[in-house]
Amino acid sequence: MYVQRFGEQLIRGAATERPRGPEYVSRFERWDDLASVRRRPRRRFAAGEPDLYFPPELYPVALHPLVAARGSAAVKGLLLQRLYDYLEFTTELESLAVIPVATKISRGRSGLDLPGRMRSDAYKIVTDEAWHAQFSHEFAGEIEAETRVPWLRARDRTPPAFLSRLDEVRGRLPHRMRGVEGLLFAIVSETLISGMLSQIPRDGRLPQSVRNVIRDHAEDEGRHHVYFRSVLGHLWPALTRAERQAVGPLVPAVVYAFLEPDYAQTARHLGELGLTGEQIDQVVTESWPAHQVRGDVAAAASQLTRYLTEADALADARTLAAFEEAGLLGPGHQERGGAAKEFAG
Ligand SMILES: [Fe+2]
Ligand SMILES: [Fe+2]
Repeated sequence: MYVQRFGEQLIRGAATERPRGPEYVSRFERWDDLASVRRRPRRRFAAGEPDLYFPPELYPVALHPLVAARGSAAVKGLLLQRLYDYLEFTTELESLAVIPVATKISRGRSGLDLPGRMRSDAYKIVTDEAWHAQFSHEFAGEIEAETRVPWLRARDRTPPAFLSRLDEVRGRLPHRMRGVEGLLFAIVSETLISGMLSQIPRDGRLPQSVRNVIRDHAEDEGRHHVYFRSVLGHLWPALTRAERQAVGPLVPAVVYAFLEPDYAQTARHLGELGLTGEQIDQVVTESWPAHQVRGDVAAAASQLTRYLTEADALADARTLAAFEEAGLLGPGHQERGGAAKEFAG
């Protein structure tokens, strides 16, 4: 197994037989001066900080009348659980989704013929992400110790929703293409501007230490965003036409895998507050109406959709249709879409 693992690639086939991508410009020249693992202290959670732990606007169930009726202490407790979820999600995302992909890239096992500089920068990303996983985990532990409010009971913890969603995408790929979903998920999760990363550091209602932890993370992610945009620029031209046709229509599901709320996790928290099953369903559906989720996902993914358009990923008619069906195309894409459809037809 270990010898086999040595040679495993994210995308099968001889990388050198695939077309090479564009020039690569590194954003990691000053990594030693800028990376949070090098420059930032370990942020500590201190007792006595404000007790609003997460912006309720980013967790709409906290604003639902059935939840509000439980009183402000219950709402604040729910928002603390949401912060724990976020920190734990970060640790799992880095450990299970980003580090494995960046490791493969660094070792020259992406399956793409990437510039040497891009490979060596991937080692820095592995280091950054390991630090993010570590400080998120440790910080959550400090909050638990200070507030004496535990996160979910161990027996209630289940894998984060993005994992089963990714398994589902993988199952829809032809066998020879399996592995590419991991690369796509890394591109998606690393290039999307998460509302949490951008808004929490500026939210003066939250504890300063929470804002600092997330600001440190966001600053590193700015460099990762540029890097994974380059990975996309190398990936798409390197795929054969048949590979693009197989992978392209699944990209919206990868976007949703990352961005759609973890409904089951929220249902567990609402159950802890004493809501009945029926009330939980009502709170979840009314707080996240389908059209609202689609709008939020499309807005969060709009920049990525533009990158994919630039990489010509939407030139394929079935891919374009999948993006339309998922509600990911804004008005600016319609004309291009029409032209592509005519061409394909
Ligand atoms: Fe990260
Ligand atoms: Fe990252």
